[in-house]
Amino acid sequence: TLTQLAPDAVLKAILRKPTHDRSPDDLEIIYEELVHIRALSHLSTTVKRELANIIVFESHPRAETVLFNQGDEGVSWYVILKGSVNVVIHGKGVVTTLQDGDDFGQLALINNAPRAATIITREDGCQFLRVDKDDFNRILRDVEANTVRLKEHGRDVLVLEKVSANPSAAHRHSASYTVMAGMPQKMLEHLLETRLDARHLSVRDEDIIRPYSSATDMFLDDFLLTHIMFMPTHQLITELMRNYRIESPTQDKEFVVASKSRVVNFVYQWVTSIRDPVFDETITHSFFEVLSLIKANNSAIHSAPTPLLYLSHSFAFASSSPWQRLKLGLLIIMYSRLSLDSTRLAHVPLLSILAALREYFRGIPVNATAETIKLNAADKLGLRHEELVLAEIKSNGEKSVIADTEVSIATCLSINGRIFVSPKDHLDAMTVLPDQEGPSDGTCNELEMFSTRELAYYITLIDWDLFCSVHEYELLYHVAGAQPFRKIKSNLDLFLRRFNEIQYWVVTEICLANTLGKRVQLLRKFIKLAAYCKEFQNLNAFFALVMGLSNVAVSRLTQTWERLPSKLRKMFTEFDGLIEPSRNHRAYRIAVGKLQPPILPFMPLLLKDMTFTHEGNRTLLDSAGLINFEKMHMLAQTMRTLRYCRSRQLLLQPPTPRSEQEVRNYIRNLRVIDNQRILTGLSQRLEPKRA
Ligand code: CMP
Repeated sequence: TLTQLAPDAVLKAILRKPTHDRSPDDLEIIYEELVHIRALSHLSTTVKRELANIIVFESHPRAETVLFNQGDEGVSWYVILKGSVNVVIHGKGVVTTLQDGDDFGQLALINNAPRAATIITREDGCQFLRVDKDDFNRILRDVEANTVRLKEHGRDVLVLEKVSANPSAAHRHSASYTVMAGMPQKMLEHLLETRLDARHLSVRDEDIIRPYSSATDMFLDDFLLTHIMFMPTHQLITELMRNYRIESPTQDKEFVVASKSRVVNFVYQWVTSIRDPVFDETITHSFFEVLSLIKANNSAIHSAPTPLLYLSHSFAFASSSPWQRLKLGLLIIMYSRLSLDSTRLAHVPLLSILAALREYFRGIPVNATAETIKLNAADKLGLRHEELVLAEIKSNGEKSVIADTEVSIATCLSINGRIFVSPKDHLDAMTVLPDQEGPSDGTCNELEMFSTRELAYYITLIDWDLFCSVHEYELLYHVAGAQPFRKIKSNLDLFLRRFNEIQYWVVTEICLANTLGKRVQLLRKFIKLAAYCKEFQNLNAFFALVMGLSNVAVSRLTQTWERLPSKLRKMFTEFDGLIEPSRNHRAYRIAVGKLQPPILPFMPLLLKDMTFTHEGNRTLLDSAGLINFEKMHMLAQTMRTLRYCRSRQLLLQPPTPRSEQEVRNYIRNLRVIDNQRILTGLSQRLEPKRA
């Protein structure tokens, strides 16, 4: 009987027994064997003993035997006892070889996804241990290694890490493994395989909007928000195209259709979440044209599941090219946000600053480089552009020469800064223009006529308009520099500019009020205005106002502050506490965390968070191009905050119209002094330092 056989054969015979027939001795023999297997070394004794009960033996006499195919449903996990297998992926061929002691097939089980590769034996007589899905889930799922590393050609291509072992994470649709690092192409494949349903359009609004939930899986959204950092759009399209074109005579139709559907589903999610910039590259257009032809050309796709049909529904719009039809169709499901391109920027019914900018830059798009502007000017001036220099001169006389490659110059200017074009050797002679200094009279009397609530209302409407125009991508351009992307962040620039404008407005008005009485009136007005902005959840303007009031030129006016009613002084102290930056703006973060959208967040802090993440973490983990996706996740979290804040429309009770038009005009055309030296000088004249 058994004892007469070689030890190897004993084991095999036991493993071939039906699991319920295994005796305690059998289990001991199996256990002894499991102890020596590399793939199981991280498991506890208890788990190995449990495995001994259920693990089965599987052998394949011939080389070139397919254990399972890419795209199949995952039903078991394997450990190689003897021999070796090839891991084969469509369009790539053999990506790696696994030897005895290695395991495979866990990926589909832990992600509830189809098989990511085909497994083929490399030699005759391969032997495996196999654990079937239910047992795997019961015994192994929670104790599986915290990190799963996939290799191709000897290099790490994907590193997954277990998010948490809590029961809700084991829920079918929230993957319990998240991507920590990966090669761009592999991450995309993994995304298509594990996060995109081939049958439904799985838009999970609540996941996309909720900013801080760590429990839900954000891989897809993270990828969409940040891919431009590591995978330019044209490369993404090339890869999508490759995945879309998977054709395989050996594969069933279902696999091919599923692969295509996932790509279409991806595009749907992409357009929904990223909107206009998706269409920025011409290669996107040709790709979408390919997609839009699906219906006509491929009968296999006729029976295709929802996403394709969904998209083809919207083709019904009569329009000239297939591309346009698709774009139209997709646009319908998009938010109507402002795009970054200049033509649309010009349509923003916004501030006079914009109108003024357009005046200077008539006919020149916002994304024009400094060089283009120079060429334009040279043409008008009849000079050679090489002789010209483009420079900003700030109101305090500071000059900075603008590099030829610089873009969106108009929106980057300081408030009273101006762009000058001059022959190179005249640069030194350039001086500040009189109008750059700002107003010499305050508007205190006018301001007194406006209701504070009404002022806050129109300030908030304008801010909201500007805020909603800021694309999430602009945060990335801000930290990584707009130039490598050849994109502009003008909407963000304008929003930040408005922040400064409001801040200087407060200081300017108070410093131009030449009687104590007027100054006290203004202080009251601005503190109340801050209170209204806070009530309207416009924290950006709130910060700007309170920071204006804290500017030295204002805070040093002790006689004025002494005359302020104590109630307002108390209110200001409270506000000042909120903008206090200590412990990483803790006071503000707690306060804003309690609010529901719509919120106008304090934008400079979001930018600081982005910069902090960007500078504190590497994008590349090795020289081969492994991307630190953890960093991308952190960047995306901040970008999602933006989305969360405006996930609900701003609906404020309009004020009873008193002087609507005047207030609007006033708020749109703030005239300020942005030269701190002048402001401090004015302040000193108002209340000279007491000896
Ligand atoms: P699964 O997707 O279930 O089936 C194919 C298995 O191949 C997969 O789990 C992994 O265990 C294994 N594998 C090894 N290397 C790779 C790779 N580079 N890409 C995908 N799968 C791989």
